[in-house]
Amino acid sequence: MGILDRFGLDGRTAVVTGGGQGIGRSYCLALAEAGAKVAVADIDDESAAAVVLEIEAGGGVAMAVHADVTDETQVAAMVDAVVGTWGGLTIAVNNAGIGVWRAAADMELAEWRRIMALNLDAVFLCAREAARVMAPSGYGKIINTASMSAHVANTPQNQVAYNSSKAAVLHMTRTLAAEWAPKGIRVNSISPGYTRTLLVDRLLETPEGKSMLPEWLPRIPLGHMASPEDLQGAIVYLAAEVSDYMTGADLLIDGGYCCW
Ligand SMILES: NC(=O)c1ccc[n+]([C@@H]2O[C@H](COP(=O)([O-])OP(=O)(O)OC[C@H]3O[C@@H](n4cnc5c(N)ncnc54)[C@H](O)[C@@H]3O)[C@@H](O)[C@H]2O)c1
Repeated sequence: MGILDRFGLDGRTAVVTGGGQGIGRSYCLALAEAGAKVAVADIDDESAAAVVLEIEAGGGVAMAVHADVTDETQVAAMVDAVVGTWGGLTIAVNNAGIGVWRAAADMELAEWRRIMALNLDAVFLCAREAARVMAPSGYGKIINTASMSAHVANTPQNQVAYNSSKAAVLHMTRTLAAEWAPKGIRVNSISPGYTRTLLVDRLLETPEGKSMLPEWLPRIPLGHMASPEDLQGAIVYLAAEVSDYMTGADLLIDGGYCCW
């Protein structure tokens, strides 16, 4: 098989959590263009349906699945919906996540738990449900969204819960990779740097956020934030057969932020 063919995803089925917008949306579009059938899973039905329409307009196959991935029952139903419709699941992208800026001393336990429930617990639940389906087939690709904040305590914003959750995702990725390698399931992660999405735009609109860009940009060697499209090559690579020897790894795509 030629090298570009080994990046192809024909015959593969994928689910992307938080697929309705931002990074998740760009992952859905990339996986579909590479040939996969894509389930766009989101808590926001309207945005998920819009991504499905975009994929179908480009000639791809997609479906929307409503799922709050912090809910164990809904995660199981999400995977069931994919398997029930397409007969199997080969690619699970655990991407939904949230960020909050809060001084650590002011953070209430309930807010800490809310971040952990989505950024960490839900990633585990989604990986576990996917692996239950992938294991009998002897093959699967699980791709978690971590962050450069898993590698570095980026400042000046205060985000102890976010950083901690993402660092835990990195180590969970390695741990699951080791446990599930004998079952043929590869588990890797992508760590984006600052990426222009609604999550970041919302934070930048706050009074604290308005002062952030002038602080952030000089710290990025490439001099600008990523666009969600900058991450598309990595998701196709990790989803495809070409990366089958890679597991437990993280692809850091941060414009060089962590070099300094
Ligand atoms: N944008 C960045 O700069 C950046 C950098 C590093 C890592 N990340 C990570 O990338 C991922 C995506 O971030 P984004 O910037 O695209 O965010 P976003 O806010 O633009 O999109 C997140 C999507 O997740 C969905 N979602 C939220 N809660 C959910 C739930 N409980 N169940 C299902 N879906 C839910 C939202 O409806 C939305 O469609 C997150 O894990 C984030 O931490 C983002």
